[in-house]
Formats: sequence, C-alpha cells, structure tokens
Amino acid sequence: MNAIDCIKERRSIRKFSDKEVTADVISGVVATAAYAPSWKNSQTTRYIAVLDKEIKNRLAKECMMDFEYNIGTASGAPAMVVVTTINNRSGYERDGSATTSKGTHWQSFDAGIATQTFCLAAHEAGLGTVIMGIFDEKKVAEVVGLPEGQSVSALVAIGYAAEEPAAPRRKSAEELLTVK
Ligand SMILES: Cc1cc2nc3c(=O)[nH]c(=O)nc-3n(C[C@H](O)[C@H](O)[C@H](O)COP(=O)(O)O)c2cc1C
Repeated sequence: MNAIDCIKERRSIRKFSDKEVTADVISGVVATAAYAPSWKNSQTTRYIAVLDKEIKNRLAKECMMDFEYNIGTASGAPAMVVVTTINNRSGYERDGSATTSKGTHWQSFDAGIATQTFCLAAHEAGLGTVIMGIFDEKKVAEVVGLPEGQSVSALVAIGYAAEEPAAPRRKSAEELLTVK
C-alpha cells in the first residue's frame, strides 16, 4: 500500500470481528510506530496493549465517562491500546525548564503523531483502529497500573474490522491552506 492510499483509506473502526489480535501483531505495529518523529527524538510515547478480557471490560465499563459509543466500541474490540507519555521530557530541557512558552504542548503533540503513525501502521497490517479521547484518565491509570511519571494520552481500540464506514467529509485544501 502506498502512503497516500494508507492515509486516505484509514477509517475509524468501531465494529470488530471476533478474530483475536495477538501481542505479536501489536508489537509489529508498535515497531513501525517507533519511526514517528518526536521532540529531539525523545520518543516519550509508550503503549500498553490490553488483551486480557477482564481488564479490557473494566476499561469499557468503568473508564468511558458514561459515553455509550466508547463503552460499546471498547466492549466489542478484541484489544485496547492505552497510549501513554513520559512526563516533562518532550519540550523540556534537562534541568526541567520548558524550552518554549508552550509547556506540555509538545508532549501531546508527539503522542498525537505517534498515535496516528500507530493507526496507519495498523491499517497497513490489515487492522482497524479508532482513537478515543473521551475517557477518565484517573480511572484508566488505576485499571492498567500506569507507571509513575506517565500520563494517559489516548486510548485506541484495535481489531479486525467488521464495518467499512465511508469517509466523513473533509475540508478542501482551499479551506485549509493560506499561501502568503
Ligand atoms: C483526538 C481524537 C479523539 C477522538 N475521540 C474519539 C472518541 O472518544 N470516540 C470515537 O468514537 N471516536 C473518536 N475519535 C475519532 C474521530 O471521530 C474520527 O477520527 C473522525 O470522525 C474522522 O473519521 P475517520 O477517522 O474515519 O477519518 C477521535 C479522534 C481523535 C483524533
């Protein structure tokens, strides 16, 4: 698959088949996502793959802030990936001071690039994903045992797609681009 097709054809998938996703398959996707760029190549994004049904169900039932769509998606997904980031490195100097005025912004920025790279690599590997932003960070941290000094950046449901949704409308280049 070429890069343009991969970018354009990836869709958010919220319905999955029963086919299991193995740790090996997710490891392959993470190995590709590792090529995402990051602040000074700091590579602060981490991935917790939740394959255990009990933990996954706790993510679905206890961590989605009663948002029915995410409860349904996470319940039906064979696996969930918790994307985490190591705090206070991306965008920061070694003495702990922020390099720019943007503080923690670059940590989130790196996590976003890494997560999209993960989703594109998953798409190339034949897997469907959806990034989820509506979750209770404290509860997710408790359920997965988040390591000290890390934040939860996003959740990603992952599995083999059982739907082929149409692409939601995209803005045109004219709407998005200003040339000066
Ligand atoms: C930061 C972020 C948070 C998102 N949160 C959710 C979410 O909580 N639940 C959900 O079903 N989709 C979520 N999405 C998926 C978007 O709704 C989806 O990407 C958008 O509608 C475009 O569709 P496409 O991914 O198929 O191109 C999120 C996407 C991003 C990038």
